[in-house]
Amino acid sequence: MPTNRYSIGAMTLHWLIAIAVIVDWRLADAAEHAPRGQHFAVLQPHFALGMAILVLTVLRLVWRLTHRAPPFSSDLAAWERVLARTVHFVFYVLLVGLPLMAWIGTSMWNQPTDFFGLFTIPNLPFGENRGLGHELQELHGTLGEVMLYLIVLHVLGALKHHFWDKDGNLYRMLPFGTPKP
Ligand code: HEM
Ligand code: HEM
Repeated sequence: MPTNRYSIGAMTLHWLIAIAVIVDWRLADAAEHAPRGQHFAVLQPHFALGMAILVLTVLRLVWRLTHRAPPFSSDLAAWERVLARTVHFVFYVLLVGLPLMAWIGTSMWNQPTDFFGLFTIPNLPFGENRGLGHELQELHGTLGEVMLYLIVLHVLGALKHHFWDKDGNLYRMLPFGTPKP
């Protein structure tokens, strides 16, 4: 396998997390539009999938820190490298931070999360504090939306490289095609 492409493990986790994040956003949005009394019940799968994203991201970070990322294509301008690195870094911060702050929030509501009927995720040892828990969830919702804008930027970047620059950058994250060295 050429070294200018991510490893199969990194690709698998990238695409699993990407799909899970998009589904989780749609679930949060569905809850947002649910009738008043059903809001919390409809949010449950959003909580559970969010926790699964946290676990996948920890795996991804362990992989990332123990495997070298492929070097950027020599065609990439300095500003593109800085922008890509910054957005990737903020993604990792949000992928860990969003579920963690929401978990602290639901713990402060004394509301354990049901993991798709399989088991219950326990509360973190924070005392009950409904007000602060609510503020954390509000901040979570806002940062979640920030993440959506960054995803749009990330995908536009990927498409610009693919269709405009035609530099094969997208193939760095796919098991086929030819990324440029
Ligand atoms: C929807 C949520 C997504 C998230 C959270 C996400 C996150 C990330 C992160 C963190 C990296 C950096 C990998 C690393 O160096 O460790 C990355 C790389 C990459 N992503 Fe995504 N991604 C998402 C969706 C997508 C989509 C939809 C596409 C394609 C249209 C895409 C294409 C790529 C490509 C090509 C790279 C490699 C960039 C490079 O190093 O040249 N991603 N992504
Ligand atoms: C990486 C994982 C996660 C992402 C990307 C994410 C994203 C989002 C987004 C975008 C919203 C706002 C929806 C909207 O306003 O239309 C939201 C709301 C919410 N999320 Fe998450 N979420 C994640 C994990 C979690 C987890 C693990 C929990 C609970 C344990 C949770 C609890 C909530 C709650 C309670 C709201 C409603 C907040 C409000 O009232 O504004 N989220 N989430």
